[in-house]
Amino acid sequence: MTRRLERGTRLVVASHNAGKIREINDLIRPFGLTAVSAGELGISEPEETEATFAGNARLKALHSALASGLPALSDDSGLEVDALDGAPGIYSARWAGASKDFNYAMQRVEQELQSKFAADPGSRRANFTAALCLAWPDGETDVFEGKVFGHLVWPPRGDKGFGYDPMFLANGETLTFGEMDAEAKHAISHRARAFALFVSACLDGRDD
Ligand code: IMP
Repeated sequence: MTRRLERGTRLVVASHNAGKIREINDLIRPFGLTAVSAGELGISEPEETEATFAGNARLKALHSALASGLPALSDDSGLEVDALDGAPGIYSARWAGASKDFNYAMQRVEQELQSKFAADPGSRRANFTAALCLAWPDGETDVFEGKVFGHLVWPPRGDKGFGYDPMFLANGETLTFGEMDAEAKHAISHRARAFALFVSACLDGRDD
């Protein structure tokens, strides 16, 4: 059985991505956990050497748990575009280059789609995937994965969210993730779905 996290536990959020840290903090706050980010503890960012979201999530959570002596929660996530054979996938952050410029990354996705003649919605199908990993200082790990399906719009719309949010329209929605309030995104996102699995396996009831 998966080991549970008791209320009041101090948890390291094993990420250096401000957007993800904010979303994970929003998600765990109602469960009575206190969170500190890896950056605040001076923990370095390990190189993501695995070939899957789950593998990279495990690597990042273990790195923070071993360095801090606290349980650590990581997220490895990305955008997978059907017509690009799943790219950028685990390379989603890397497509933005050293300056982490997601306008540039979105443009690159659009250009590659255009070069495949993928102008109609059917061939612009994409999904976000998130793998969350909870790691313990003794090396135990559990991974939870969530996905949200939709298609890519151009030009990008909205300045909320982060990363590729402005070009992602989830199935059945009229607003892109970049136009949605955080709460609306949390109701359907890949991260929220992975988080729901993590909650039922590892956490006790919400405050509200
Ligand atoms: P990594 O998991 O830190 O390697 O980076 C994942 C990258 O995927 C992020 O930098 C974003 O570009 C993208 N990504 C992951 N989740 C989301 C999301 O919820 N919205 C938009 N982009 C995302």
